[in-house]
Amino acid sequence: MWPYPKIVAHRGGGSLAPENTSAAMQCGLDYGFRAVEFDVMLSKDGVPVLMHDPEFGRTVLGTGSVATTLAQDLLQMDAGSWFDPRFAQVRVPSYEEVFLFCQTHQIWMNVEIKPAAGFEKETGRVVATLTRKLLETGNPALVPPLFSSFSLDALLSAKQAAPEIARAYLLDEFEPDWLDSLRRLEAVALHTNQKKLTPAWAKEIKEAGYGLFCYTVNVPERGREIMSWGVDGFCTDRIDLIHTDFAQHA
Ligand code: G3P
Ligand code: MG
Repeated sequence: MWPYPKIVAHRGGGSLAPENTSAAMQCGLDYGFRAVEFDVMLSKDGVPVLMHDPEFGRTVLGTGSVATTLAQDLLQMDAGSWFDPRFAQVRVPSYEEVFLFCQTHQIWMNVEIKPAAGFEKETGRVVATLTRKLLETGNPALVPPLFSSFSLDALLSAKQAAPEIARAYLLDEFEPDWLDSLRRLEAVALHTNQKKLTPAWAKEIKEAGYGLFCYTVNVPERGREIMSWGVDGFCTDRIDLIHTDFAQHA
């Protein structure tokens, strides 16, 4: 039900590096992580890049938005200074660049499709189409990535474009139609907020035969607790505190 790594570095390197950058991927790797989650959004010209926020201002300076900026400009933007001046050379990476880095280093990917509002279907389709193309020339021995998204439309569109790439539905909290959505998506897992998960819902998800993954667990004791409820895995910002072998001792 969960053929993936159990402990995953959130946004690449968790809280130890500027999120969603190649420096973050390297940081995760340096801590021994061979499993990452990151967020993917489309530029104005439809190029998938790693980015969490649709608007500039937090991880890249200035004003403006990802969906109204060309890829050639996005890829020049400083995505590291906000975190620490020593990361001033770190740029917004393309999804393709990060995908290839992960494949080279045998890092499993949870690709969170993060569409800007109004671009849900297009983002799902473009990310799925590119992923399929990259997998065709990639290492077939590696465990393929898992798509996840809070957007049902993005995942339905990804399913249409590349049905063979596994999908997980992201929910911030319990929704009555969660099982219908998983079935519609032909999803393999449900991803949800550890803060709002209950033991009863965890049991239902597992009994329905789905993988169950949580974000974002930064306290080891909490990790042990939710795993005792049947949670298969989680992502963490504290890759220095929660190690890849955590689940074996949980
Ligand atoms: O994919 C899990 C988690 O990353 C979802 O929330 O806002 O950190 O992308 P967010
Ligand atoms: Mg995310």
